[in-house]
Amino acid sequence: MDEKETNGIDSNNHISKKAKVIRCITQSEIQSEFSHHDSSTARINNGSFGSCPDSIMSCQKKWQLKFLRQPDEFYFNHLQAGILKSRSVIKKIINADDVEEVSIVDNATTAAAIVLQQIGWAFTEGHFQKGDVVVMLHYAYGAVKKSIQAYVTRAGGHVIEVQLPFPVVSKDEIVNEFRMALEQGKSNGRKVRLAVIDHITSMPSVIIPVKELVGLCREEGVDQVFVDAAHAIGNVDIDVKDIGADFYTSNLHKWFFCPPSVAFLYCRKMGEMSDLHHPVVSHEYGNGLAIESAWIGTRDYSSQLVVPSVLEFVNRFEGGIDGIKKRNHDAAVEMGVMLAKAWGTSLGSPPEMCSSMVMIGLPACLGISSEAEGLLLRTHLRDSFKIEVPIYYQEPKRGEMEDMIDSSCVTGYARISHQVYNTVDDYYKMRDAINQLVQDGFTCKMLHSG
Ligand SMILES: Cc1ncc(COP(=O)(O)O)c(C=O)c1O
Repeated sequence: MDEKETNGIDSNNHISKKAKVIRCITQSEIQSEFSHHDSSTARINNGSFGSCPDSIMSCQKKWQLKFLRQPDEFYFNHLQAGILKSRSVIKKIINADDVEEVSIVDNATTAAAIVLQQIGWAFTEGHFQKGDVVVMLHYAYGAVKKSIQAYVTRAGGHVIEVQLPFPVVSKDEIVNEFRMALEQGKSNGRKVRLAVIDHITSMPSVIIPVKELVGLCREEGVDQVFVDAAHAIGNVDIDVKDIGADFYTSNLHKWFFCPPSVAFLYCRKMGEMSDLHHPVVSHEYGNGLAIESAWIGTRDYSSQLVVPSVLEFVNRFEGGIDGIKKRNHDAAVEMGVMLAKAWGTSLGSPPEMCSSMVMIGLPACLGISSEAEGLLLRTHLRDSFKIEVPIYYQEPKRGEMEDMIDSSCVTGYARISHQVYNTVDDYYKMRDAINQLVQDGFTCKMLHSG
């Protein structure tokens, strides 16, 4: 596969300024790129698993065949060069200083394990004191919370969760809560060793003022800052130098059209201090995280190799990935406002705190009264209406309990996504399904079996 001519990367692994748009992709070409999607389902949940166009799947298949045709030749002559090309594309997009700062791993879960593992070692090897603190958001992703439990709490670390308001009206609310958590972390002479900050929280989904929070961490002497930006690349702007965290990860299979699964982990150069290793140890142990991660044993590396072709794909759209990002955000907000109007509710955050995912209050009369009922409603929408959308349960605050009983308190939010393949009909389908449920006097209690 000779990609030199077309993917916008020159022989020094620089993205060519001349990376060209030959002809903008048409609507029908977009629909054909995603024609493998189940056409009977309104898929307004790009956020969970992302999406991969046909042309990228074909390209992935070529890489797989190249390996299977002559594995030894592929291993010795192509694999490492291919991964380096992908790292160079990512380096440029995220504005890292050096390609050495960019490692490619399977997913954000793996990236979190890499960061948290070295924190765990610092406790067990006595560099950190038992009771030293890790601060994370209450809305941190569940799997990352489990990872903190496994690597940090078990090794003697103390975890402080930053409570965040939802619905949220301004980023100041988040900054204030975070400042208080850092103060609490430093009380009793403890040290805050790590802050884990989401760039875009998953559920409820909100853009976090990550640069401000990293700045606070620096002012307060937090040792290390890890930004879990699983949803970021292709969705919001990323400038890792400007954000200033030590570690920053994003999946490329969510909003950057890569096949599952591939993510990058950016590690700011820390010189001697760095003790980062891939949790799967292989021949390259000790040769730096990027090299370790590029060989973790025999497996399929094709999803990591298609990144330059994905760059080519996004450059077929007006404005490249920046154009896609902006149009997705604007459409997600427009559809969110349309749904909120139709249901007599409101958005969970102001538009500037929404990415290409938007939270919309569901009619209170649906009576969502637990996380489990949110999941039941999601399943009902999939099975009975062919709509794929995650539902968030928001526990009523104390004073709202009475409203809950007379069913005027919003306890459920739908998280809609917008990606290039979506059409307004997907969201009208969602609007009409919920209106139908309301009209039929449906409540989530009806979904309990037995
Ligand atoms: C904020 C956040 N972090 C981490 C992850 C984990 O991503 P993956 O399952 O691809 O490792 C997700 C997935 O949705 C997420 O939303």
